[in-house]
Amino acid sequence: SETLRVGIAGVGTVGAAVARLLARQSEALASRTGRKIIVTAFSARDPGKERDADLSGCQFFTDPSALAASPAIDLFVELIGGAEGPARASVETALTHGKSVVTANKALLAAHGVELAALAEQKHAALAFEASVAGGIPIVKTLREGLAGNSIRRVYGILNGTCNYILSRMEREGLSFEQCLSEAQKLGYAEADPTFDIGGFDTAHKLSILASLAFGVKIEPDAIDIEGIERVTLADIEAAAELGFRIKLLGVAQRTADGVEQRVHPTMVRKSTPIAEVMGVLNAVTIDADAVNELTLVGPGAGGDATASAVVADIADIARGVRSAPFGVPAEGLLELVRAPMRRHEGG
Ligand code: NDP
Ligand code: HSE
Repeated sequence: SETLRVGIAGVGTVGAAVARLLARQSEALASRTGRKIIVTAFSARDPGKERDADLSGCQFFTDPSALAASPAIDLFVELIGGAEGPARASVETALTHGKSVVTANKALLAAHGVELAALAEQKHAALAFEASVAGGIPIVKTLREGLAGNSIRRVYGILNGTCNYILSRMEREGLSFEQCLSEAQKLGYAEADPTFDIGGFDTAHKLSILASLAFGVKIEPDAIDIEGIERVTLADIEAAAELGFRIKLLGVAQRTADGVEQRVHPTMVRKSTPIAEVMGVLNAVTIDADAVNELTLVGPGAGGDATASAVVADIADIARGVRSAPFGVPAEGLLELVRAPMRRHEGG
């Protein structure tokens, strides 16, 4: 069977981890998919930078769109980041050329997911994005495949590893907000502009993708009420702890009588509850649905290796010829999005 030739655009924290994982698991992936998967080309800004992966023998591009259009690749993996600029242009180029795309870029999907999905459909290409929500947790597959027989009432959880890392370290070690953020950046968890993390926008991007999968609503981050964690102080965390609570940044999407409500805000959760025990870079997603009732997935929400796990799962699907419709529409059709009528707090 044919080799699948992969081009990776962006070889930073996630891109390098994807190249390493594909190399490490090459035999297992060949036997699981029936095809050899190899990285043949990559792109980055700086041609001189040492990469944390062995890319010898691969073609190098500085322009991600040139990589996307290159005949040297069958599949384009976008790991640059950003809703516009080279990420958007190169994904559009790849799809226009009928090449399937794997991306971890939730900002891009939140802003342009609907158009990109339409372009992918038109070109019979896959647009896969497991890594865009909750890092290593296979939540896209869980919602789309594992829970296909359910009607979902609510999806909520901790969707940003950087924020959970900051809140956890502030509580456990009494460190300042700034120090914890700087460590999250050093560990490769934060976005290039960490305002996306701490301002709640990254959580909102992920929530809009989850809501689209769960409820068939249009991806619409502007419909989400968003409050981040910038104003959470050590004193707030200590006061919550004295009362038996923890502060978590939650994203919540739920069906209401009027439509689907989505919101992101710091929330007091009771310490004995499972979600309160999710500490550090871990994420948790809880799904409340009619047949399964409630289930929670917990796992690493950021970091190179964990995110690479999700990217490689998508690459394996494409190698096997799986092409899921990017955003499913439930049987009852598109639901309306409604603004949250008031702030409500979970678990307390
Ligand atoms: P990094 O900043 O570590 O890497 C970005 C890569 O893209 C670098 O190789 C960089 O080149 C290249 N790049 C950046 N800007 C340009 C540009 N203008 N033109 C061409 N290439 C460019 O990012 P991450 O690996 O952390 O994140 C990548 C994507 O994955 C983002 O969408 C992010 O939101 C998402 N993601 C990240 C996670 C994480 O834990 N880090 C988890 C889940 C998703 P150079 O190296 O030469 O500077
Ligand atoms: N900056 C993001 C986070 C990366 O901290 O969760 C994973 O999407």
